[in-house]
Amino acid sequence: MKKGMLLMSVIGVLFFAQSCDAKKDAATTTTNETVIKDTVKSEEPVGNPTDVKADPGTFQIKPLKYGYDELNQYIDAKTMEIHYSKHYLGYINKLNAALKEANNKSNDIVDILKKMDMKNGALRNNAGGYYNHMLYFDIMSPTPQKAPTGELKAKIDATFGSVDELIKQLDDAGAKRFGSGWAWLVVKADGSLAVTSTANQDNPLMPEAEVAGTPILGIDVWEHAYYLKYQNKRDEYLKAFTNVLDWKQVEDNYKKAK
Ligand SMILES: [Fe+2]
Repeated sequence: MKKGMLLMSVIGVLFFAQSCDAKKDAATTTTNETVIKDTVKSEEPVGNPTDVKADPGTFQIKPLKYGYDELNQYIDAKTMEIHYSKHYLGYINKLNAALKEANNKSNDIVDILKKMDMKNGALRNNAGGYYNHMLYFDIMSPTPQKAPTGELKAKIDATFGSVDELIKQLDDAGAKRFGSGWAWLVVKADGSLAVTSTANQDNPLMPEAEVAGTPILGIDVWEHAYYLKYQNKRDEYLKAFTNVLDWKQVEDNYKKAK
């Protein structure tokens, strides 16, 4: 009996030791894989935005003002590449096809959005996707003007109390958007500013918008905009976004929209 118990104890100790080694190996492997994956990711060549061309059609891709890797500290190059060359490009090609399908010959995207048949899913999603991304890529810069000035700054202060408070409200709108969508700063018909949010690729110019207005700043909160670097931490992406937000472009948008 004693011999049997002794044998069982020895087997138990051996099994425990092996199990620890297996766990150690698994941890090592995981660590190595992580290192290798990260190395590959950082060394992976990214394409050139100037190579991206839409199919022939009414709307074409707007050139990116910077390289995919130039916002790297805040938004990684791979995300930028996929976002611009796959998602944005896809919306443009599908928008052109949806316009053809609807026999819509307009080349005015604002007019198309304002007169949107909200039951036409293909046109709604892709016209929104085209306009929204064009604005989004335009207001980012590796050398951004860090804060608003002049008339826009005065308007923001009068409306929200401060630029920090506006950013807080924008981040809040983006964080609370359930699923995919956008956070916006818009100029309403009466010239006032407002923060709002839309689902999917909807846009405040479209009929039925909860807060109607012309967007001058839009933050993409679809997971494709941040997931590689930030995974589920959308709030961290929103904070990072303010570091690449170019207020010069937002000011230009404001001048055109007011
Ligand atoms: Fe997007």
